[in-house]
Amino acid sequence: MIGTSQVAKRTVKELLEAGLQVTPRALDVILALEPSLASLVISKVKATEGTLVLTEEDIRKLIEKEEPREATNVKAPKSEEAQSIIPPGLKPKPALTAREVDEDFEVVMDPTKMIGTSGSLDDFVNYFKDRYMRLSNLFLKRGDIKGICRTCEVGRAEEVKLIGLVREISRARSGSMVIELEDLDGVVSVLIPSNLTDKARHLMLDQVVCVEGRSNGAFVVADNIIWPDIPFDHKPRRADEPIMAVFISDTHFGSKKFMEKPFTRFLEWLQGKRGDEKSRSLAKQVKYLVIGGDIVDGVGVYPNQEKELVVEELYAQYEIAARHLENVPDYVKTIAIPGGHDATRQALPQPAIPKDYSEPLYEIGVEMLGDPAYFRIHGVEVLCFHGDPLNDVMTALSIDSHYPEKAMIELLRGRHLAPVYGSTPLSPEPMDLLVIEKVPDIFHCGHLHVNGQENYRGVTVINSGTFQDQTDYQKAMGLTPTPGKPYIVNLKDFWVAQLDFTGD
Ligand SMILES: [Fe+2]
Repeated sequence: MIGTSQVAKRTVKELLEAGLQVTPRALDVILALEPSLASLVISKVKATEGTLVLTEEDIRKLIEKEEPREATNVKAPKSEEAQSIIPPGLKPKPALTAREVDEDFEVVMDPTKMIGTSGSLDDFVNYFKDRYMRLSNLFLKRGDIKGICRTCEVGRAEEVKLIGLVREISRARSGSMVIELEDLDGVVSVLIPSNLTDKARHLMLDQVVCVEGRSNGAFVVADNIIWPDIPFDHKPRRADEPIMAVFISDTHFGSKKFMEKPFTRFLEWLQGKRGDEKSRSLAKQVKYLVIGGDIVDGVGVYPNQEKELVVEELYAQYEIAARHLENVPDYVKTIAIPGGHDATRQALPQPAIPKDYSEPLYEIGVEMLGDPAYFRIHGVEVLCFHGDPLNDVMTALSIDSHYPEKAMIELLRGRHLAPVYGSTPLSPEPMDLLVIEKVPDIFHCGHLHVNGQENYRGVTVINSGTFQDQTDYQKAMGLTPTPGKPYIVNLKDFWVAQLDFTGD
């Protein structure tokens, strides 16, 4: 729920600090806004003499004035039927038919042709050097990070500012911790006092962070920890027209648990054959369908998987996928990346699924990219990543697996898609393609089979769940998936709604 999110808390804090009171309905409206727009509205009211109690009408008037400049992002309430997917109270979007709009798609980064390594020890050393250099460059480009020193220069009592890779983390009962911070010259111990606990709980091994503090000759006592993060002033790029993109993931075609009925309802809606007039009109605006990996269930992915498969041949599983996806209207471009269940190498970054296995998808015109893939649709930049390392992040930071968006935000904070080395297989490519060098406007993942959506510093964060019912493994792990609920995003104003195809 948006009301319980960090973003909502920050907005309420801003209201209190501005000395403003709001009516309950006005509060609902302001909490549903994209954070930067909410802040702008609060600052406008603050600057207006005599306004102490904000009404819903006041806010709507201000939004109307500001909307052309700032994105709105409204989380739709969950509904039981696709017929009522458009949240009440939202003003209708201008009509547009995606069929009449030309495709505007451009690949910014696809690892498929960029990878190839022997995986030697030297390759790993160079890989981590490259990770360090790319992430430190992100810090050095910022205006607020100046006077960086190297670990070899730390030796006497002085104020220091270091950029390093977190090699070790030791936590004390008092709440303080010691980290080993490594740069290209050496390693230094940093004591993180308990007053930095709130910040330090975001720290993960192998992340590159900046530490400000004081050196006593033997170690550094931290005053502050800074992550590369998304800049506060990131303004999402926008499409000129209200084009829609739909995000789905983890379809697991070929599995007995693939939910054929909800997926068929989804396709019928996309074809304009399902839902009320508003829903059909919305479907006609969809120009892009983005699939975040685990297209098929695969073969031999986990013990006794064959018992849960409809077919045990990979090619046949992709044929099933193509049989369904060929019903996507021809004017909708489908873009797909692989996941851990797909027929490509498992180490990240993954190349696109080769034609040998997934020819039926190539034949129906699916744009097959690697994992992660970064592309541009109508000017809006999308980072699509299956999300295997989200499990590592959740374990390291004790995040509940039913909140995938929280782990995704941690990846944005550290500007790296696989911060913790060890559990998720990584390929030591000469260039670390898992660094989030460019700030995306939409960050899409799957993998966890649980939906989640948030707006983090102007980035629309989406985990689009699955179309696979709960597996025995998930049941044993206590994970309740949320199948059949993709997201739709308006690329002009970042209006987001969660669709629901689980009902008849
Ligand atoms: Fe999956």
